[in-house]
Amino acid sequence: MRKKIVAGNWKMNKNLADAGTLLSDLKSKLGQVSGAEVIVAPTFTNLQSTVEALKGSNIQVSAQNMHQAENGAFTGEISADMLTSVGVQTVILGHSERRAYFGETDALLAEKVNTALAHGMKVIFCFGEELEDRKSENHFKVVEGQLKNGLFHIEASAWKNIVLAYEPVWAIGTGETASPEQAQEMHAFIRKTIEQSYTAAIAEEVSILYGGSVKPANAAEIFAKADVDGGLIGGAALDAEGFAAIAGSF
Ligand code: 13P
Repeated sequence: MRKKIVAGNWKMNKNLADAGTLLSDLKSKLGQVSGAEVIVAPTFTNLQSTVEALKGSNIQVSAQNMHQAENGAFTGEISADMLTSVGVQTVILGHSERRAYFGETDALLAEKVNTALAHGMKVIFCFGEELEDRKSENHFKVVEGQLKNGLFHIEASAWKNIVLAYEPVWAIGTGETASPEQAQEMHAFIRKTIEQSYTAAIAEEVSILYGGSVKPANAAEIFAKADVDGGLIGGAALDAEGFAAIAGSF
């Protein structure tokens, strides 16, 4: 049975004190949530304090990005070893904001995936089409390309450390959510694409999250779709009550 997962991507929000407040609110509100794994992804400066704050809770911690090299002269960057050394075992890679604003390509992401897996980390691999792709009906092709070029070089055995997050760019931070039917259609396509390149068992086991303007009001109907295994939440993850409500939407 594949896992249900709700992950909060805090992006560049919350300083140390604000993160601490959000985490203590989350711990009290999420204590009762069962049926889904919960992950939070604060910014680098808050990772270590978040790991400490969440000790003994069932909430996991993820980084939002990572450099592909082991170490070296890469000013401002963070390595896999640095993440795992503070207790972070999961990393988000390929977020559309990294692709769009920081020039991250499929080829670069393939390297980052390799480094994360080599360090025994779990990867939340993000991808999704832009509005023009959908308008020109190229969205399936774009998503297939992102998967094949950034991820499908991994060995079959590595899939147990992969979570997918389909995030159509036109739905991120816009208030415009993909309809549950649009999400389901794409998630089913993703599973079929994995089956064709790997096996039906791998396709069946991998959790595929939907991301893009998920809120307490729409989470349940999106998560109810057969191939949607949870969500990667941006704006609504910054509020403990809303995030807890989303995590409890299964
Ligand atoms: P929003 O939920 O704010 O649309 O952001 C989604 C996202 O980018 C999560 O990674």
